Amino acid sequence: MSLESNQQADWMTRSLKSVWHPCTQMQHHETVPLIAVSHGCGAWLHDHDGRRYLDAISSWWVNLFGHANPRINAALKDQLDRLEHAMLAGFTHEPVIALSEQLAARTGHTLGHCFYASDGASAVEIALKMSFHFWRNSGQADKQEFICLSGSYHGETIGALAVTDVALFRDAYGPLLQRAHVVASPDARQAQDSESAADVARRAAAALEKKLQERAGRIAAVIVEPLVQCATGMAMHDPVYLSEVRALCDRYGVHLIADEIAVGCGRTGTFFACEQAKIWPDFICLSKGISGGYLPLSLVMTRDEIYQGFYDSDMKRGFLHSHSYTGNPLACRAALATLAIFDEDDVLNRNRQRAQRLADALASLASHPKVRHFRQRGTILAFDAAVDDPEKAASFSRRFFTAALQQELLLRPIGTTVYLMPPYILSDEEIDGLAARTQAVFEQVIRH
Ligand SMILES: Cc1ncc(COP(=O)(O)O)c(C=O)c1O
Repeated sequence: MSLESNQQADWMTRSLKSVWHPCTQMQHHETVPLIAVSHGCGAWLHDHDGRRYLDAISSWWVNLFGHANPRINAALKDQLDRLEHAMLAGFTHEPVIALSEQLAARTGHTLGHCFYASDGASAVEIALKMSFHFWRNSGQADKQEFICLSGSYHGETIGALAVTDVALFRDAYGPLLQRAHVVASPDARQAQDSESAADVARRAAAALEKKLQERAGRIAAVIVEPLVQCATGMAMHDPVYLSEVRALCDRYGVHLIADEIAVGCGRTGTFFACEQAKIWPDFICLSKGISGGYLPLSLVMTRDEIYQGFYDSDMKRGFLHSHSYTGNPLACRAALATLAIFDEDDVLNRNRQRAQRLADALASLASHPKVRHFRQRGTILAFDAAVDDPEKAASFSRRFFTAALQQELLLRPIGTTVYLMPPYILSDEEIDGLAARTQAVFEQVIRH
């Protein structure tokens, strides 16, 4: 064993002794490797052994412009010498003002007020609380319930889990949750016979309307992941679902919360996924990519009408939610550098070419006998592996992850759904290599 691989083993042993890793059954690390990252550069993560891995899932969907991006690094270094942090109650600062203004402008100032937090789940909690509190301030205190979609994922804190419908994450905490109403997902994979994705979407919207007819007087908000329900396994739907839901929310007097934590920031082809349905929700939750994958930052954008519902001389009618690091200047500065790259590099247009090249390079998988529902929205590409044996299906993701590492890829399927969600910087060669290696890993894993 080389000196380097001894180092790698040492880091792994030390980490497993002291670090409790997220979303992990720790015992699995008896067989699944733990990669100790020494540094990152562009789309690549490097370990202490001198091996490298193409970060094909943007490190849990956060990293938009590569690791150690020179422009984001420069902005952060500059910010570090000015102001690392200041509390946001009673104080304000340039990065948080500029970021709020720029984001509001991206909604045509329809959602002109930004409330900040650090992680995605907190943004979801804020949107839920704001919606409920707005209705209470408006004399409709009975509106205390929420509607979410089948297979929805909105985070792991207690409030966010209550609007999450992924049994693996939710059920252990069932007794702690005030669970939301779950309505049909518009997942296009449910199309029957000659149904189109738009037909499935309309069918799901009709199911939502039925629930609203029964309970709208008690419902504060409907929460959706626009266009792609990511964590349940990249379930994609037609934009018409969003326009139908917007119309229903207006008709029944219910808020629409768009959780764009995973699908925002250009991931689906437009900056906000909702743009593809030509609608604006009442709340947008953003996190993950907004700071370029550098620092924890989340925010909730909302309309002036909702903001005005809290504006009062009575303290208790205000929105008193807070987190210590709310609006952290470093995180906001990373976000500003990220937004600047979108404009300077014409990112959304160039991503269309990258997405097309990736789809073309993987086209042969679409007709593979063991592939189901090959699908794509923007820079998210996914397909389901047909694995009949339940035991093999249960271990598919871990086996795929391990095999992918051997091919210099970081890929982590969700169950038997393989997906790619790469950073927006891949060269043609990197795209072609990613496609070829993904196919090789798939052929290897599906055979065993
Ligand atoms: C749609 C969606 N909402 C909320 C979250 C929670 O974000 P965080 O992990 O930052 O709490 C996630 C995380 O994957 C997500 O995909």
